[in-house]
Amino acid sequence: MAPGRKAYVSLIGDSSNELLKESNNSSNGSENSESTNDKHYTFEMVDESSQYLLARTHHRPRIGIICGSGLGGLAELLTNRHLFPYEEIPNFPTSTVHGHVGRMVIGLLSNVPVICMQGRFHMYEGYPLWKCAMPVRVMKLFGVTHLIVTNAAGGLNPSFNVGDIMLLKDHINMQGFAGVSPLTGNNDERFGPRFPAMNNSYDKQLREIAKRVAQETGIDRYMREGVYVMLGGPSYETVAELKLLNLLGVDAVGMSTVPEVIVARHCGLTVLSFSLITNQCITEYDFDGGANHEEVIETANLRQNDLNLFVTRLIESISVEVL
Ligand code: HPA
Repeated sequence: MAPGRKAYVSLIGDSSNELLKESNNSSNGSENSESTNDKHYTFEMVDESSQYLLARTHHRPRIGIICGSGLGGLAELLTNRHLFPYEEIPNFPTSTVHGHVGRMVIGLLSNVPVICMQGRFHMYEGYPLWKCAMPVRVMKLFGVTHLIVTNAAGGLNPSFNVGDIMLLKDHINMQGFAGVSPLTGNNDERFGPRFPAMNNSYDKQLREIAKRVAQETGIDRYMREGVYVMLGGPSYETVAELKLLNLLGVDAVGMSTVPEVIVARHCGLTVLSFSLITNQCITEYDFDGGANHEEVIETANLRQNDLNLFVTRLIESISVEVL
């Protein structure tokens, strides 16, 4: 309990008080970003999470996948699966957003062992960024070397269509401009350096493989490459904000991925990331209607089969050519 709460408790003097219970539960995933009194995860805490998984599955994947909004179906493709709800894993945050199951799925995708996060943690849920990205470190200590990060995003580049798949070639860490980073605070060198480089975050070789696989699976006509920005959400962007992002060279806008990629690069993981463009960003003032979560999920469902095939072939190729 935070020191400031003690006085409150003794004032009320009754621990069965409902208000008090609610206030004491606030560390359970609804705490506000950097104002939280939560301690950052230590190396040992992350290790405990990963040891928990290692002790309960014989799979030893080197590829990790983070499934974005509506893309959790990817985890359903795995065979010989071992499922670990986030609540079960020691020290793990828990997910609250609709459309996200919260569990680690470990199994085989086309005979290649992989570990999937089915459901992720977002800044708009109230998590600090270091908490959003903590599972990446768990994957690292679990033995993952290559991370595929997927997301749903709005297409800002006017040549993009709904249903396109954009490979990230770079990102803009908008939160970093305000001094907010998943790496803020003490740095544990066992994870990575104090000042990690972020150029070449999106591995060129993996992107080349992804482009070739897109050709082979006939989805190259939907394949784009571009710059992603994460905003905190949960509100979608205003027209003026989108015009600004356009000036900055942004191609797609989402609410995730960047903290996870920063933490992944910090601990030396090789990263590939792609966005499913689920809606077109509205950059005109005289447009009726607006972005909505239902459209995002609908588009993800429409593209599910294509994405499943793409990711399966991608994993096969990475396993043969890179691992
Ligand atoms: N903006 C931000 N995040 C999103 C969007 C969007 O238009 N679509 C899906 N995620």
